Amino acid sequence: MSRLTSSRFMEQIRNRKMLGAIFMGVVAACLCGALASPVLSQDTKPAAAEAKKDGKSKSSRKSKKSKKSKKSKKSKKSGSVKAAADIRKIVGPNECAECHKEESEIWKKTHHFKTFKSMPRSKEARAIANKMKIKRIKSKTLCLNCHFTTEVKGKKKKPIAGISCESCHSPGKDWYKVHSEFSGKTEKTETQAEEAARWKKVDKLGMIRPSSIYKLAKNCYSCHVVPQEELVNVGGHPAGSPFELVSWSQGEVRHNTWYSKGKNKKATASRRRILYIVGVAVELETALRAVATATESKEYAFWMARRVDAARKKLKALATALPNLPEVSRLAEAGYSAALKLNNQKALTAAAGQVAKEALAVVGKYDGSQMAALDRMIPSEDKYKGKQADGTGKQAKNEAR
Ligand code: HEC
Ligand code: HEC
Ligand code: HEC
Ligand code: HEC
Repeated sequence: MSRLTSSRFMEQIRNRKMLGAIFMGVVAACLCGALASPVLSQDTKPAAAEAKKDGKSKSSRKSKKSKKSKKSKKSKKSGSVKAAADIRKIVGPNECAECHKEESEIWKKTHHFKTFKSMPRSKEARAIANKMKIKRIKSKTLCLNCHFTTEVKGKKKKPIAGISCESCHSPGKDWYKVHSEFSGKTEKTETQAEEAARWKKVDKLGMIRPSSIYKLAKNCYSCHVVPQEELVNVGGHPAGSPFELVSWSQGEVRHNTWYSKGKNKKATASRRRILYIVGVAVELETALRAVATATESKEYAFWMARRVDAARKKLKALATALPNLPEVSRLAEAGYSAALKLNNQKALTAAAGQVAKEALAVVGKYDGSQMAALDRMIPSEDKYKGKQADGTGKQAKNEAR
């Protein structure tokens, strides 16, 4: 069974009990019990700014900065939490491993891989499933969404793996051939313009690439905040992970072996700064949306409000450290712009939208090189979550890049 299970789970249960005491006074006072309407708008389409940035090629990594960010929103019914991954387009991790063998070996050492077997067998899972009146965990969309990669075979949904390549890079059917074919030429003969056009096409087809940090982060948080009221309040499922994007992406999850010929290099200092800011911003955005749609003055609302409060405090500290970045100040301001209470969906959703907009402005405008002031705030290597492996599955050195 996974390392995480019992101890962390019990810790969460204990925290839950303490929560009342710590938190009732702070936030509960304003979480008055009226019902909010059950419309969830989890999905913020990443802006042109980021899509544009994604289009840049390896050879022009430092090129243009885009000026404007545009955002469109899409509402969804509550119930479907996970950003809509179209499982009809799953090709499966074995297909990716055809070319990405090292990434695949590294992935096989992670909780994301192991949850496929370990989760359904655990006592905690059974307890949650019982409370949610679920008989077979592996046949329930609710659990599948976050714990597994699911394939459609005819009319049947079949879980084929844990959280895999396409859970994070998006279902591959439409893009996976395009991304790797060098515009029908070879790596050497493809022109720069062709390469740029290829990545642009791939972005349009929905691939989540390492360069689209906002999209990457949204995706992690859509699972790791667990924005599912019933699952938490009724099922007793943990109300998310103590997630932080740098430390959680640079440990066991890290598989930066492709462009470095097998060395699993950690993200550069500049990239880590952007990862850090965007991570905190997306935490804030996701938690604001969760409070916006919470309907009961119970644990879920408390946890989510607490997440909001912690994230906006962090952003305030970031804004102080980076006085010349107005976007970061505006991120913090947005976090305080709506009262943390039930039945305040409109204001909270607007605040979340504002956060998304500023986060996109940050990734559109900056590459992190101006942000050395953040380094003392960003989790250091000893805080990275889990041990990173190299392409043979052995433990790797932390190569800077
Ligand atoms: C036929 C071989 C092949 C297959 C199969 C394949 N890839 Fe790739 N992948 C590549 C190549 C080649 C590149 C680098 C392209 C370049 O350098 O321009 C790449 C690059 C990537 C990148 C980095 C993109 C970036 O923005 O730099 C990611 C992420 C990725 N692949 C994920 C996947 C996933 C997920 C799958 C399975 C759905 C997959 N690949 C299947 C060959 C493949
Ligand atoms: C919104 C995403 C989401 C959904 C839906 C979800 N989980 Fe989870 N689950 C998570 C995350 C994220 C964690 C890791 C929490 C942590 O870091 O402590 C987790 C952890 C767990 C754990 C403890 C760790 C382990 O793997 O043993 C169990 C048990 C579990 N989930 C069972 C379930 C069951 C059963 C369902 C369906 C009723 C379900 N989950 C639905 C996201 C989700
Ligand atoms: C938990 C989410 C997650 C999963 C699962 C995942 N990736 Fe990634 N992948 C990322 C992130 C995040 C990055 C960028 C990492 C960074 O910034 O340090 C990345 C980077 C990459 C890169 C670029 C590596 C480089 O050298 O820069 C490739 C290629 C890739 N992933 C392929 C895959 C393949 C193939 C799988 C499945 C075997 C996979 N990924 C599974 C999140 C994920
Ligand atoms: C599809 C949902 C999903 C996505 C997307 C996702 N995760 Fe996870 N992650 C989980 C679940 C569920 C677990 C708990 C698995 C278990 O232990 O059973 C987990 C566990 C982890 C762990 C191990 C935690 C521990 O306790 O040691 C790390 C680290 C992690 N995720 C990082 C990331 C990062 C970084 C991203 C984005 C790049 C990401 N995850 C995206 C669902 C997801």
